[in-house]
Amino acid sequence: GLPEKVTIYEVGPRDGLQNEDAIVPVADKAEFIVRLADAGLRTIETTSFVHPKWIPQLADAAELLGVLTRDPAISHPVLVPNEKGLDRALANGVKQIAIFGSATESFARRNLNRTVEESLAMFEPVVERALAEGLWVRAYVSMACGDPWEGDVPIDQVVSVAKRIMDMGCSQLSLGDTIGVGTPGQVTALIESCAAAGIGVDRLAVHFHDTYGQALSNTLAALRAGVTTVDASTGGIGGCPYAESATGNLATEDLVWMLNGLGIETGVDLDKLVSTSRWMAERLGRPSPSRVVQALSPK
Ligand code: HMG
Ligand code: MG
Repeated sequence: GLPEKVTIYEVGPRDGLQNEDAIVPVADKAEFIVRLADAGLRTIETTSFVHPKWIPQLADAAELLGVLTRDPAISHPVLVPNEKGLDRALANGVKQIAIFGSATESFARRNLNRTVEESLAMFEPVVERALAEGLWVRAYVSMACGDPWEGDVPIDQVVSVAKRIMDMGCSQLSLGDTIGVGTPGQVTALIESCAAAGIGVDRLAVHFHDTYGQALSNTLAALRAGVTTVDASTGGIGGCPYAESATGNLATEDLVWMLNGLGIETGVDLDKLVSTSRWMAERLGRPSPSRVVQALSPK
């Protein structure tokens, strides 16, 4: 069966903008987030408190949170890799954070400058302190369906990292197909293996990049397996600069089109979303890669 309702976890302002060549002014980022909220999105990953040299596009994280009027009904998680990032997040009134681990050594090294083991050791005090401060903590596990340097990633390897991270006390696990190579059968098997390891579908989210055009099919497989939280990026922008061949995320518009067709409730207004991504595409100086945005835009 399929769920009646899906929570869309919007990552455009973070995953989307972290990979754009254009440095988007703070005021435009804030307007982007306000427009997303106005379109009905209730969880909007807003920015990252990572090293500004690693992700210069999000170096303005504190400034952005300073100008953003935060509606308590909307959750604004931010990425935090380490205690320094947590300090910065707490100083800026953040209530939800996401740590981000890797299933593979190659990506852990490139993205976090750590081995998998060292990165888990880096996250542990972050989660412990965040929970003590009453924050909500999400965890990503990247390269969950394949890795550009290592190729296939065994499901057991993904689940073992996921289990270690979730045992720290995180509330949600987002399975990241960072480079978009996964296919639906693999997604179903991964979700079943997570459940068998004690990470039930109620705690799972899926995070698909659309490099190989599989993101929607993979999402449908995840919904059929019981997942009800889906990550997506308005306009389909994004990718990770430290992951070779990562393109944009599943476009939120493409997701909403499918969910509307299936009669699944999201609370999102598609027209408002499409006009928001057209507006952002103008600022980024390139058309949105989303098929739905293209189809609904005047020729
Ligand atoms: P490092 O160089 O090993 O850091 O980087 P360090 O701990 O050795 O510290 C070096 C210096 O950086 C120190 O300064 C620290 O204070 C400073 P110094 O004492 O030399 O003056 N520093 C910081 N400054 C500001 N904020 C911080 C911070 N941390 C240290 N948080 C580090 C390690 C983890 C920091 C670095 O590798 C990093 O920032 N990585 C982030 C990379 C990133 O953001 N990637 C994109 C997000 S992941 C993604 O997109 C995938 C996802 O979408 C899911 C999917 O698709 O699969 C989530
Ligand atoms: Mg991503």
